[in-house]
Amino acid sequence: MAAEGCVVVIGGRGIGQEIARHYANAGDEVVITCRGQERAEEIAATIGGSTRGLELDLSQPESIRDALSSVGHVRYLVLGAIERDENRIRTYSIPDAMRLVTLKLVGYSEVVHVLLDRLSDDSAIVIFGGLAKDRPYDGSTTVSTVNGGVVGLVRTLVGELAPMRVNAIHPGVVEDSPYWSGKNLDKFRSRTPTGRMTEMADVVDAVRFLLQNKAVNGIDLRVDGGWMTT
Ligand SMILES: NC(=O)c1ccc[n+]([C@@H]2O[C@H](COP(=O)([O-])OP(=O)(O)OC[C@H]3O[C@@H](n4cnc5c(N)ncnc54)[C@H](OP(=O)(O)O)[C@@H]3O)[C@@H](O)[C@H]2O)c1
Repeated sequence: MAAEGCVVVIGGRGIGQEIARHYANAGDEVVITCRGQERAEEIAATIGGSTRGLELDLSQPESIRDALSSVGHVRYLVLGAIERDENRIRTYSIPDAMRLVTLKLVGYSEVVHVLLDRLSDDSAIVIFGGLAKDRPYDGSTTVSTVNGGVVGLVRTLVGELAPMRVNAIHPGVVEDSPYWSGKNLDKFRSRTPTGRMTEMADVVDAVRFLLQNKAVNGIDLRVDGGWMTT
């Protein structure tokens, strides 16, 4: 039997879609977001259950309040959307960096801000970072920066929103996520102690743990098969 309140997944494709599917299959009311209403409704239909799709653009933070106006009480909030830029400090693109910083740091914060009257002490929030914060790759200047920013965002929210729980997840390369489809991942696999890359199901399971375990708070959870230890 699903508990009271909906599950909101900001960024309803990719890994977000699998998180939404998990909770929809469990009988929860789920809200997913995409940048277009039509696409949001299509994705919601493929997820099924009591899932509905909303249009939301994190790069336009002033529009977030209206975009989420129809959302009721929120039990779990997952902030996972990203639009990766490819940026390097020697050829730095301010517009690209501004867009990603706005959507992942200001946009994520504004989502929490506008939903405050629909979150309660029992609610829980998971914010997606990523291991580019610790292990940058060519072109990850902004991605590394915002993923590092997620660590600080979680710290402050844990204090500001107590007793509500807030945690971050930092996956390694997620082999079966659409972003990595068709790319050669051998260099990541060979450096992963388990010899097995992280899969979307592993990330869903970790998000479920962070949302539902009532003692877990303020954690930056690495989900990478031990990749960061090598
Ligand atoms: N995939 C990995 O291997 C990996 C590894 C480490 C960390 N992560 C993190 O995990 C999270 C999910 O990654 P993913 O690979 O599943 O992402 P993805 O497949 O690239 O999907 C990105 C999602 O973000 C949404 N989005 C993009 N720009 C947006 C905007 N301006 N406003 C609102 N929504 C926007 C997209 O929605 P529409 O395009 O439909 O509008 C889509 O739902 C991200 O935070 C990422 O940094 C992923």
